[in-house]
Amino acid sequence: MLSMRFVPIQLCTEGMRLGKPILDEEGHVLLAKDVVLTEGLIGRLAGRGIPYLYIVDKATEDVDVPEMIRPETRLAATRTIRSHFSRMMGVSAQGKPAFATFIAKDFRDLLDSIIDDLGNHPSAMIMMNNLQVKDHYLFQHSLNVCVYSTMLGIAHGYGREELTQLGMGALLHDVGKTRIPLSLLSKPDKLTVEEYELMKKHAEYGFQLLRNEPNLSLLSAHCALQHHERLDGSGYPRGLKGTDIHDYARWIGIVDTYDALTTNRAYRAPVLPHLAVELLYAGAGTLFEPSKLETFRDHIAIYPLGLTVELSTGEVGVVVDLNRNLPHRPIVRILYDPEGRETTPYYETDLSKQLAVTIVSVTGRRDRLGVG
Ligand SMILES: [Fe+2]
Repeated sequence: MLSMRFVPIQLCTEGMRLGKPILDEEGHVLLAKDVVLTEGLIGRLAGRGIPYLYIVDKATEDVDVPEMIRPETRLAATRTIRSHFSRMMGVSAQGKPAFATFIAKDFRDLLDSIIDDLGNHPSAMIMMNNLQVKDHYLFQHSLNVCVYSTMLGIAHGYGREELTQLGMGALLHDVGKTRIPLSLLSKPDKLTVEEYELMKKHAEYGFQLLRNEPNLSLLSAHCALQHHERLDGSGYPRGLKGTDIHDYARWIGIVDTYDALTTNRAYRAPVLPHLAVELLYAGAGTLFEPSKLETFRDHIAIYPLGLTVELSTGEVGVVVDLNRNLPHRPIVRILYDPEGRETTPYYETDLSKQLAVTIVSVTGRRDRLGVG
């Protein structure tokens, strides 16, 4: 357990103390834990694109942020995903066929650690705190979808072998994107119809890459093929319906959509977590299975402990407790008043009781930033 909060880089100020080391993409320590921030450091971290920092301070020293995934596991995950995906991207960029052979062994070891880590917190609501390191979107997304899916698999009651199949399928669901041109993957605008058609091929490509992989269940390969299929047949590539879509792919379809919606992309701002859940529910029974959505809603902490939020009142605070029955209405400790002044003493707003007050931002104060 850690006593800290994560603070958008724009809200970090001189004198704040780091609650966790900051690592670069290779896992090297850029700044050690307990380093006191200076304006210069904050500027450099912002320049590296790091969106949040873990901060320890008096205001939140009693807030325990559970670490679902151990730092060692996260580092191993980042390294394994980066090295294999980059290699495949490099090969495909030269126009040669990409070989996925024997990648599954490394990913399987990784998944064992993820399942073990998650198994140690069976009742905790998962929250992805992978905020300290900025990485390639595909790499981060693959890990997020893997961790969320595995957690939902645990909640659903899958055994170890099923969890491994689901988790491997989730980790590799978008591996076909390594065969999509980088210019398309990172295009800042909306895709044209033709570009979208090409992008959709990643499902087939992924299946082709994985189907003959000796250390991988064919069911995991089908996660790559089917994760964009939807209950009513409106998905791709085959327009499969209902139970023709494998259960694993149906879990991954939900998690994939949620993670994509709530992530900041070049072409659009992230959707607030509870709005993303509402969007998923808008597809209940047509796109997504209602029972799976319920499991998702009950096990994903959409506003995790320690998260900085801005309220519709203009106050800025940190999530210090969750209302299990109303996970989108947490208890917020107010640290700044609407004018941006520190509140002393701090006070708390229980959003399950203050129904007129809403969370309007999780990325810092828009008025102060002059954006949004
Ligand atoms: Fe995909």
